[in-house]
Amino acid sequence: AGGNRVKLVEVGPRDGLQNEKKTIPLATKIELIERLARTGISTIEAGSFVSPKWVPQMANSSEIMEHLLQQKVQAPVPMTWSFLAPNTKGLQNAAAILKQNPGTFSSQLDPNDKPAVEVAVFAAATESFSQKNLNCDIQTSLERFKAVIQDSKALGLRVRAYISVVLGCPFEGFDVDPHKVAEIATDLLESGADEISLGDTTGMGTAPRTSALLKCMAAAGIRSEDIAMHFHDTYGQALVNTAVSLEHGIRTFDSSVGGLGGCPYSPGATGNVATENMVYFMETLGMETGIDLDAMADIGAWITGELGKANDSSVGKAVLGA
Ligand code: HMG
Ligand code: MG
Repeated sequence: AGGNRVKLVEVGPRDGLQNEKKTIPLATKIELIERLARTGISTIEAGSFVSPKWVPQMANSSEIMEHLLQQKVQAPVPMTWSFLAPNTKGLQNAAAILKQNPGTFSSQLDPNDKPAVEVAVFAAATESFSQKNLNCDIQTSLERFKAVIQDSKALGLRVRAYISVVLGCPFEGFDVDPHKVAEIATDLLESGADEISLGDTTGMGTAPRTSALLKCMAAAGIRSEDIAMHFHDTYGQALVNTAVSLEHGIRTFDSSVGGLGGCPYSPGATGNVATENMVYFMETLGMETGIDLDAMADIGAWITGELGKANDSSVGKAVLGA
């Protein structure tokens, strides 16, 4: 299964920034997104239409979306801007901006050469994480997502559906049932999601557990081309788990420049696997990402400096001789 082409989804502007305590200026967020777009990456998660009381850092996602629709962002490949929306309210807020900016984006109903907009919903594999992250149980969340997915499709938007804590939960430990993950994924695909992103929120995933999960997904009839892997690198296992996922035919991976990130509802979880590390790793395997590693390394050094954080990309630091 597979082929040599790998799609990386840059989640830094959302997953990477959502947990930052200090308000990051809108201009810095926009500069981050615009610089990322010039590296050759094709999908950037640019913001999140969630409650600003829950995640204050994402409060200006509307302005980010407006900017991306109204200004022509330079990019060597066609772009997709992705935004989280956990409920109808979030989608309505996003849809209002789309309606105010007709003709500025490409949709499944009206494909053109403009950037595409994608909506992402996010379920959880355990009841305790669902309660913490979404304030409702799994079944209720799936019913809400069905409405969000159907309304998104009616607007012509591609939909990604995350499932969090698939390889370990901050509250239930390793006690996460891969069959439950497959069941939730099947529900989301039947509701119309175009892609499932499996989140190792805590970074507790190991090679054998990743393999067991992906075997379970395949046994449930879920195609590898419909799956993305979303590894946080808390235990340093993300690239190992990526290698295992490649062997299972997965060709879409989420990562965050500079290794930025952490989930507000997953105590102690660190950032996503660094995009620089991912690009370098794929290159060593002869896989193509289409991404300029040097440019990505520069962005990692710049944004971690802006945030006053250490650069968490070993590859980025090595490339820059830092
Ligand atoms: P709730 O409080 O249960 O919702 O929140 P509610 O419907 O009862 O509404 C309460 C208030 O929130 C109301 O305002 C609503 O209008 C408002 P009030 O009347 O009190 O003034 N509200 C909203 N405002 C703006 N946008 C919205 C929205 N919805 C309600 N969309 C909710 C439920 C899901 C909204 C809340 O729990 C929430 O926003 N949670 C945030 C969760 C989050 O963002 N988590 C981080 C992203 S997921 C992640 O990081 C994992 C991932 O990376 C994968 C992985 O690593 O595993 C994707
Ligand atoms: Mg995440």
